[in-house]
Amino acid sequence: RGAKAADEEEAAAADDGSGGRKNVTVFFGTQTGTAEGFAKALAEEAKARYDKAVFKVVDLDDYAAEDEEFEEKLKKEKLALFFVATYGDGEPTDNAARFYKWFTEGNERGVWLSDLEYAVFGLGNRQYEHFNKIAKVVDDLLSEQGGKRLVPVGLGDDDQCIEDDFNAWKEALWPEMDRLLRDENDVSTGTTYTAAIPEYRVEFIKPEEAAHLERNFSLANGHAVHDAQHPCRANVAVRRELHTPASDRSCTHLEFDIAGSGLMYETGDHVGVYTENCPEVVEEAERLLGYSPETFFTIHADKEDGTPLGGGSLAPPFPSPITVRNALARYADLLNSPKKSSLVALATYASDPAEADRLKFLASPAGKDEYAQWVVASQRSLLEVMAEFPSAKPPLGVFFAAVAPRLQPRYYSISSSPSMAPTRIHVTCALVNETTPAGRVHKGVCSTWIKNAVPSEESKDCSWAPIFVRQSNFKLPADPSVPIIMIGPGTGLAPFRGFLQERLAQKESGAELGQSMFFFGCRNSKMDFIYEDELNNFLEQGAMSELVLAFSRQGPTKEYVQHKMAQKASEIWDMISQGAYIYVCGDAKGMARDVHKVLHTIIQEQGSLDSSKAESFVKNLQTEGRYLRDVW
Ligand code: 2AM
Repeated sequence: RGAKAADEEEAAAADDGSGGRKNVTVFFGTQTGTAEGFAKALAEEAKARYDKAVFKVVDLDDYAAEDEEFEEKLKKEKLALFFVATYGDGEPTDNAARFYKWFTEGNERGVWLSDLEYAVFGLGNRQYEHFNKIAKVVDDLLSEQGGKRLVPVGLGDDDQCIEDDFNAWKEALWPEMDRLLRDENDVSTGTTYTAAIPEYRVEFIKPEEAAHLERNFSLANGHAVHDAQHPCRANVAVRRELHTPASDRSCTHLEFDIAGSGLMYETGDHVGVYTENCPEVVEEAERLLGYSPETFFTIHADKEDGTPLGGGSLAPPFPSPITVRNALARYADLLNSPKKSSLVALATYASDPAEADRLKFLASPAGKDEYAQWVVASQRSLLEVMAEFPSAKPPLGVFFAAVAPRLQPRYYSISSSPSMAPTRIHVTCALVNETTPAGRVHKGVCSTWIKNAVPSEESKDCSWAPIFVRQSNFKLPADPSVPIIMIGPGTGLAPFRGFLQERLAQKESGAELGQSMFFFGCRNSKMDFIYEDELNNFLEQGAMSELVLAFSRQGPTKEYVQHKMAQKASEIWDMISQGAYIYVCGDAKGMARDVHKVLHTIIQEQGSLDSSKAESFVKNLQTEGRYLRDVW
């Protein structure tokens, strides 16, 4: 609050008239922090370039408490930059969802943004359908409603090097910003500006003064709202392996106990799980940074006098006092590949000049191909890169602000229904365990934690995690008699287990259930046919009318769910004609894409439509909310 009030005063003090200071708002819609990082980096660099402007970095969710406020405030903006990511099935990030809904639904507003000049940078991944959809829509709507576009929408592609896309877009933007924010007599055009490496303020404290004060996540059990900022502590009640010993992979069924926590969920929602890096990874990070694990410190985003250090926010990045060990375990993303900006920060603190030069080269335009190969394609983790540059030992405040991104919660489609398990959240999680091209065995941070979790069934000293629920629109039709078609191979089964539990409860309470078909696929019926008994039970009890199975590594040829769908084309078409809902869950890049194509073909052939008619038929299903996808 205090910070906001101070910001607003500063903005109000900035005279917007000719010759005065201009306000620039930099909005971000972020899920994993990349859009937020770009927004802050741009604001920092811009502050160095334009001393006549005030830059404010704003979380889209914090901009307005009520929807009406969006309109009131946006109307007054003169120059705004938007960093918006696209997620899942072409969706906005959680913190941009409310803004996006409000902005896209208000088609009666007409031309009302004539005072606004703007630019949009999108964050997406070309491997997915709906590449950068949110950025494109926001960019178009801003223009339609009167805004003046400064540069074409930036289409950041995370499949390649999104930092390069950001830099290219920024270079196009500067001349426009120069025109708007520089005086005529300012001769500094053409100078290169390097923003300072961001740094948090760290204070070390004696263990005897800190040990009893150590703070964990701000856990909010019993709190009215649970979200990413207010997770709740949940014990692991049950954990069991779902694959048979014949399988060389692993998939875990896990149950979080939420009794009495205040946490609620609905069938089809997601659970966000905060997890920890495993001890070996944390020890390696301690060694590379040169800190002893028991060192206690506090961390701050403000100067000692209470003013912000930069980036606009006063909130510390995580609760402290804390030990180095716990901070590295809970809050540092150590296993993803480092961004170029992380390499630049490491270079600044490399005491060996040869190492500093090589790090700078990797982050430079000349080192582009080598970065793409040696870092990205080889999937070198931040720790592996640091191990190659042992003289680069940044202080903790720099490490957490500029080198290691924050460890993100992992999201899982909940595999239970509250009508069956009101005090439990079930998760179905495949273990990530793969050898990278550079030869490192990569163990997924959360899936490894889940696989090794100790349930309260087995020990009083059980594992627990901060968790929260994220709502989804992946929901059963309100009327249980409406037919449904579910497609979910592998762990894509998860939400359908919840659906079927709910349908069974509906049936038991006397509801008339419509026809339902579930397409499930796995490698081999003897290895990874997860929840086989339960699925058969749902069939017997009438919660599901047909289970169609595709085993990809059992017979002479690969059988996938979409092949089975093609075989069932006329039944699928009949169900669609009767108003069926279609649900797809699982891998977005391969499976969901192929299923989408087959669905299109079925509709085209069975409905005797031409390709474009079939396409608008599918689009219609989507807009009516009858074709829903929970994909990743
Ligand atoms: P595979 O591993 O033999 O290729 C669950 O992971 C199941 O989904 C596995 O049987 C897997 O088969 C299969 N699968 C892999 N790619 C797929 C795709 N593009 N479409 C449908 N199923 C796929």
